[in-house]
Amino acid sequence: MAGRFHGVDPRTVERLLVLGQAASVAGLRIGRTNFFLIMVAARLCAGVTFDDAAPILRARCQSCHSPGEVAPMPLRTYEEARPWAKAIRESVRLRRMPPWHADPAASHEFEDERRLSEREIATLAAWAEEGAKPGAASGKTTSPVPPRAWKLGEPDFVARIPEYKVAPSGAMAYTFLIVPTGFARDTWIRAVEFRIDQRAVVHHINVYARAPQSSYLRSYPKGELFVPTKTDRPAPLDRESIFDAQQFLAGYEPGYVPSPWGLGRGKLIKAGSDIIVQVHYTANGKETIDSSEAALYAAATPPAERMISLEVKNSALRIPPGDPYYLSEASVEVARPLKIVSLQPHMHLRGKAMDIRVRYPGGGTDSLLSVPRYDFNWQTIYRLRDPVTLPAGAKIETVAHFDNSANNPHNPDPSKTVGWGEQTWDEMHIGFIELAVPADTDPDTLIVGLRKHRKEQP
Ligand code: HEC
Repeated sequence: MAGRFHGVDPRTVERLLVLGQAASVAGLRIGRTNFFLIMVAARLCAGVTFDDAAPILRARCQSCHSPGEVAPMPLRTYEEARPWAKAIRESVRLRRMPPWHADPAASHEFEDERRLSEREIATLAAWAEEGAKPGAASGKTTSPVPPRAWKLGEPDFVARIPEYKVAPSGAMAYTFLIVPTGFARDTWIRAVEFRIDQRAVVHHINVYARAPQSSYLRSYPKGELFVPTKTDRPAPLDRESIFDAQQFLAGYEPGYVPSPWGLGRGKLIKAGSDIIVQVHYTANGKETIDSSEAALYAAATPPAERMISLEVKNSALRIPPGDPYYLSEASVEVARPLKIVSLQPHMHLRGKAMDIRVRYPGGGTDSLLSVPRYDFNWQTIYRLRDPVTLPAGAKIETVAHFDNSANNPHNPDPSKTVGWGEQTWDEMHIGFIELAVPADTDPDTLIVGLRKHRKEQP
């Protein structure tokens, strides 16, 4: 409500609305013009200063708008925020900032939703419109986050990627590093955190665990960076546990915030496992040396639930040139009861929208997440506020749309037929789904036909 009256302290607006309501209840009518005049008067007296804006910036913006974080400029002090006042007003009104792409009308509720309230938007807009005045607290640095610190505290294990020189231009193949954990016994971890050295050239990092006998990247040396060839990324051996061979732990992508899986939940790393780090560098116009890190945090006690990552994807997509709304669908059927904890749509530059939903065995569907305007720059992990429990026989479906037309400003080449591939000018359609299952569950038994799915992976 208050959002309509830009330029007025929302508290004043609220008080006026209450007055107005009281007046009309009392049988009085305040005409539109009078009301407008009252608003103008209120505007003259109301003083929105940086003291009103600062708490919002602190709570809603500084996790990214601080030195060393993902956003280009810090917004911690009056001096830092002042030059951006107009841009702040525009970006919050249009809901470009904070970046958040789930449609609340067709999605469940998520943890840490980056959606401002109408009142927060009105306050920031009013601050800008009233000349971005300082306040009593201006000048003080309010950011609690010192740059480059581990947000989750001192880690138990760090995989440091050796310095890598990223060339100024050209396509980059995925680069790998194998780091032995030296874990003498099975170890539960509660979180993974990334510390990115040069954000401009790190497109993404994924970390996996592989158990001692794993066939995955078997022929490669440990402790040095290498680029495997396609044929050296073999399908799992016939009797090999799929999740032992290669278990996804966590990923860094633009928009990443470290998020532990939660109390009583963890991922299991078997004794003697290696950590595999997969880095996708991207050229950024000038030669850049990066040395990023991935850290593991051990759980103090064995958790009750094991976290498992599932990919619901369609690797057979083929998008015709110019197609503005190509449909791609994928689904898996769950073989035993499980809980869905989080969701992460993944596409590349032609990705337009993704829906992730559940189809129940008795009929009926439930839309978990709808991202109507997908933005490749924001690989958000949507963590369900209330995990969703599925019975055996339920299906998890991901529905993706792609825009390969010239109207897509991110489209690198509308004249190409686009298929599955690693590079951003190729495409992907994956819904990454994090599941929680009782800690002793064999993850290979969770999905109907899982082995077949894996074998078909490109
Ligand atoms: C999750 C990280 C994140 C959060 C939270 C965030 N920003 Fe940003 N912001 C960015 C990044 C990254 C950019 C630069 C790239 C872009 O524009 O997307 C940016 C750019 C901007 C810009 C300049 C471009 C534009 O859109 O006008 C403004 C202004 C801005 N942010 C304001 C804010 C404000 C105000 C908040 C809090 C209410 C906020 N941001 C919260 C990451 C964030």
